[in-house]
Amino acid sequence: MSTTSTGFVPPPYPYDRLDRLMPLAAAFEGGAVDLSIGTPIDPAPAAVVAAFATPGPERGYPPSIGTVGLREAVARWIERRFGVAVPIAAIGATIGSKEFVGTLPQWLHLRSPERDTVLYPTASYPTYEMGAILASCRPVAVPMTASGGVDLSAIDPADAARALCLWVNSPSNPTGALEDLGAAAEWGRANGVPVFSDECYVEYTWDGPGRSILEHGLDGVVAVHSLSKRSNLAGGRIGFYAGDPELVHYLQEVRKHVGMMVPGPVQAAGIVALDDDDHVAVQRERYRRRLERFAAILGQWAGVDVAMPAGGFYLWADVGDGWAVTERLAKEGGALVSPGDLYGPQGARHVRVAVVQPDDRLELVAQRLGVA
Ligand SMILES: Cc1ncc(COP(=O)(O)O)c(C=O)c1O
Repeated sequence: MSTTSTGFVPPPYPYDRLDRLMPLAAAFEGGAVDLSIGTPIDPAPAAVVAAFATPGPERGYPPSIGTVGLREAVARWIERRFGVAVPIAAIGATIGSKEFVGTLPQWLHLRSPERDTVLYPTASYPTYEMGAILASCRPVAVPMTASGGVDLSAIDPADAARALCLWVNSPSNPTGALEDLGAAAEWGRANGVPVFSDECYVEYTWDGPGRSILEHGLDGVVAVHSLSKRSNLAGGRIGFYAGDPELVHYLQEVRKHVGMMVPGPVQAAGIVALDDDDHVAVQRERYRRRLERFAAILGQWAGVDVAMPAGGFYLWADVGDGWAVTERLAKEGGALVSPGDLYGPQGARHVRVAVVQPDDRLELVAQRLGVA
């Protein structure tokens, strides 16, 4: 059957735009070293993996909002990590944060049909913009400060008046900047705009402790977290959101109707992961070492200064022409990185390097580039 579409045509998925470069990198002996997608491949803790197979009541349909056990573990982690007490009624589970980011605008628009705008950082995770598009809403990129955070003073009051939400992301993917979350919460309250703070990289900060917007009160704010990065569980698909009780309750209720359910065994594993901080400390040191090493490799090869990010596990390097350098790295180093414009036009001069590969793979790239 042939149907004619007169409406939405999905754009190429950002990373699919790299497909043509993969064969160039793969042609090297030892294969491609993929530093493009931020997919953690280091091991998850053995106790977490074992918990996936625990026989128990988690075989039945799991609660969409998250089991009491999972939400209690989230509350314990938030208290331990940020010193904030959040009632479990103000916590909900996600099937990883991507689905939450991608679907949020449609739920907010249903609740406030008179508003139609999603505000998000100009250089950012592409799903903030796509969530707005999928809800037939207006994505409006907020300019960034020189340090790589959102410039709240640059938000047009007319856009604020129409805004369903403001996204902030700290540490930022791709820039690595840490946001002033107190200022974001204050801006949201002053303008009547809920602030959603994507904090999925919060365990990895290199310039002071990781912060949550929840430290500035729950009113009007929701923090969004994920075990993908914290506990190397990207394949498990589990995350959570927590914050303003009324907003969280609304989202819990609406999401139930769509069947947003984290599988029971994954929720059980999530509890074990959240209660353990030791594996996070080990992972943090892995990323720190790799960031420092690859900043030196890339800097020497490209002849530019590559700074350590304030947080996250990406290098965000100004190399002049992001696509040209991405192509050269594939051809000369067998390495795949992301051209910065995948995160918005403001990133066109940059490349983003995800240090998700083991040390020996990074050294292989250094050898190929002649800077070992
Ligand atoms: C800023 C940001 N938010 C959310 C996600 C989604 O992560 P997940 O769906 O695995 O929780 C990512 C993944 O790279 C990300 O970089």
